[in-house]
Amino acid sequence: RTVRLLGAPLDLGADRRGVDIGPRAIRYADIAAELEAAGVSCTDFGDLRVPRLEQCDAPDTEDDAKYLDEIAGVTDELTTEVADAIADGDVPIALGGDHATAMGTIRGAARAADIGVLWFDAHGDYNTPNTSPSGNVHGMPLAAVTGYGEFDDLDWTATPTVAPSNTVIVGARRLDDAERLALEESDVTVFTMLDIDERGITAVVEDALDIATDGVDGIHVSLDLDWLDPTVAPGVGTPVRGGVEYREAHAALECVANRDRDAGLLRSADIVEVNPILDRNNRTAEVAAELAASLLGKQIA
Ligand code: ARG
Ligand code: MN
Ligand code: MN
Ligand code: MN
Repeated sequence: RTVRLLGAPLDLGADRRGVDIGPRAIRYADIAAELEAAGVSCTDFGDLRVPRLEQCDAPDTEDDAKYLDEIAGVTDELTTEVADAIADGDVPIALGGDHATAMGTIRGAARAADIGVLWFDAHGDYNTPNTSPSGNVHGMPLAAVTGYGEFDDLDWTATPTVAPSNTVIVGARRLDDAERLALEESDVTVFTMLDIDERGITAVVEDALDIATDGVDGIHVSLDLDWLDPTVAPGVGTPVRGGVEYREAHAALECVANRDRDAGLLRSADIVEVNPILDRNNRTAEVAAELAASLLGKQIA
């Protein structure tokens, strides 16, 4: 098996500068060596070209989805790159960049087959241009790919790229009010930190896998590093206390890897929101690289 790394140094979807150097930090943490230790080979296709913030027209204050056109240009390219990687038999992993990256990876994966999505995140990222309190597109990708809400000129969002009933958020602990209501009315499943506290991470992830894989061919795993507790992964732009611990995170991804080993499910992944400027000694990028290895089947012993 070969993982194909695709750098997506996208920061236009987030409020903070610095997440654009996430791909470099994750490479510096030697994700390639981590993956090889997991028994998979790894090729690196470098970074997608992303417009510099300074080159873009400044969003006006009313803009309800800042830089959406520019972001769509990047994620359209990523869609093609991900679809190509899967067609070549590789497992593409996009290195973010902010979480708007997932609009590209998920569309690319869905081009090849019907997929479910596991969304490991403190947030729901289920805002739309109409509900977003910030106008930051990294808070909207899950709505876009499940076909919820209106996204101006993004025609592809009119129909679901992935079925909401195969979409599962794990570890949520900060949802905006309108976002929470919209999720309640949707067929997206949300497991919160309370579910993890009460039932344990492996039971929750096994349920999430049952839901995500029901009636589809494979899964996409979207890993936002702010899923983890900020003591474990401090280098993120939107930290929220009370996240999963280091061991829980590995246990979760090992559950996915075990299911994948039996059923060959994993089509693609993204690892997003690593912000080295806010990090300490590249710790968050190291955690990201180590978690990638667990996802690809690295075992403790
Ligand atoms: N819900 C907030 C917003 O819409 C925060 C989103 C954070 N998303 C992320 N991918 N870190 O702005
Ligand atoms: Mn708009
Ligand atoms: Mn998040
Ligand atoms: Mn996110």
